[in-house]
Amino acid sequence: PALTNIPQPPAKPLVGNAFTVDAERMIQSLMELAEEHGPIFQLDMMGTPLIMVSGADLVAEVCDEKRFDKTVRGPLKRLRLIAGDGLFTGDTDDPNWAKAHNILLPSFSQKAMGSYLPMMTDIANQLMLKWERANSDDVIDVPKDMIRLTLDTIGVCGFGYRFNSFYREDFHPFIEALNRTLGTTLNMRGIPGEKLFKGDQIKQLHRDAAYMNNLVDEIIRERRSQGGDGPEDLLDFMLKGRDAVTGERLSDENIRYQINTFLIAGHETTSGLLSFTIYYLLKNRDVLKRAYAEVDAVLGRNIDRAPTLSEIGRLPYIRAILSEALRLWPTAPALGLAPYKDEVIGGKYAIPKGTFTTVLIPSLHRDTSVWGDNPEQFNPDHFTPEAEAARNPAAYKPFGNGQRACIGRQFAIQESILVLGMILQRFDLFDHTDYQLDIKETLSIKPNEFFIKARLRDDVE
Ligand code: HEM
Repeated sequence: PALTNIPQPPAKPLVGNAFTVDAERMIQSLMELAEEHGPIFQLDMMGTPLIMVSGADLVAEVCDEKRFDKTVRGPLKRLRLIAGDGLFTGDTDDPNWAKAHNILLPSFSQKAMGSYLPMMTDIANQLMLKWERANSDDVIDVPKDMIRLTLDTIGVCGFGYRFNSFYREDFHPFIEALNRTLGTTLNMRGIPGEKLFKGDQIKQLHRDAAYMNNLVDEIIRERRSQGGDGPEDLLDFMLKGRDAVTGERLSDENIRYQINTFLIAGHETTSGLLSFTIYYLLKNRDVLKRAYAEVDAVLGRNIDRAPTLSEIGRLPYIRAILSEALRLWPTAPALGLAPYKDEVIGGKYAIPKGTFTTVLIPSLHRDTSVWGDNPEQFNPDHFTPEAEAARNPAAYKPFGNGQRACIGRQFAIQESILVLGMILQRFDLFDHTDYQLDIKETLSIKPNEFFIKARLRDDVE
């Protein structure tokens, strides 16, 4: 092994651990290895060491930003084809990262969220109408409807574009191209360079990238031609904003990369969260009952009136339910880090400068020293203010870490509380297949083939 002292699953000559992990279910495979080998283990990927960390105390050390920085490698690096030096795929020391971070922070602030609420509600209403109008035997494809919802929401709040996913059976061509690109760049995982891919796949990849980049460039051009009178969305912030430190603006190319980034980072993660949450509610009737009681008390029975910002802030149990779903299945399940210089963590594990060190978040979120002996149990009371205050902050990292943490966190939480609140206000939900959780892994994770039925509650007004 390259690194002494750090446990490693049995390796084969030359290839090392290249086949230890099941590529189709990589995260679940790594979780099993963490279960077996403990809070830190290493894999030898054909000579390159990969370190997987999932114990809360060790994670606290690798989340120390003075010692470790985010590193963009593997599938994330290949995503630069469409996400370039945008926030998610940019390096921390790239001047464009700091510039965009400074310009975009205000557009994701708590204050800015109020201006997105009417747009979020507009899209949420489309989902409600669809479910209200379904016949009693119609089956709802939960993950697919949640993708429609989150995609259309980021489209409208991001740059005033309507994908109109609720008005079509398949996805908008942009999304088809995005999904193909994500699939291809992800499956290239572990394969050095593009050479091993078939020529037509590579051609398709570049065709898709060109199509997406052109569509977004066109939106930017159009908005510029409106002379600043467009809607108050993220694009507006990006076109008008100046970096307070350098006084500079973002280039049109960088704005394009940010828009692609928001589409990638913002839709599968939030939709996965909503799908997992509905799954857990259906399997935990006592939690569901408390959720209905809170929604009824705060939002009332009149469904013609949309939830206000203040009401969304007064649904702490709904918020705790979402936090707990993100504990068990953090939909962005891994963080890639590397130390600035040779490091020792846990007092004995040496990690040489630059070594790829991954935080395996679903395993971190099951660390029994923090979450108790039965971490698989769905319990929103993990997120009472008292429980949160008493806990090691490194034990819960669904939105990443430090300055490289998720900029869209408030956005995702507001959207999720709004949508879940509106669903519970309106519908009885039925787990008619007695669904058994099956997880589909792409860049994010979500329930696979999850269908329910919904019926308007008898007592709606
Ligand atoms: C970064 C999770 C929703 C935009 C991240 C990271 C995580 C994460 C773990 C850090 C990634 C890393 O270290 O490599 C989530 C989850 C979400 C969510 C679980 C929903 C439940 C959103 C939304 C947006 C967004 C709605 C945009 C509207 C971003 C961006 C970054 C990021 C731009 C990169 C930030 C930076 O490094 O400057 N997210 N995210 N995310 N997220 Fe999210």
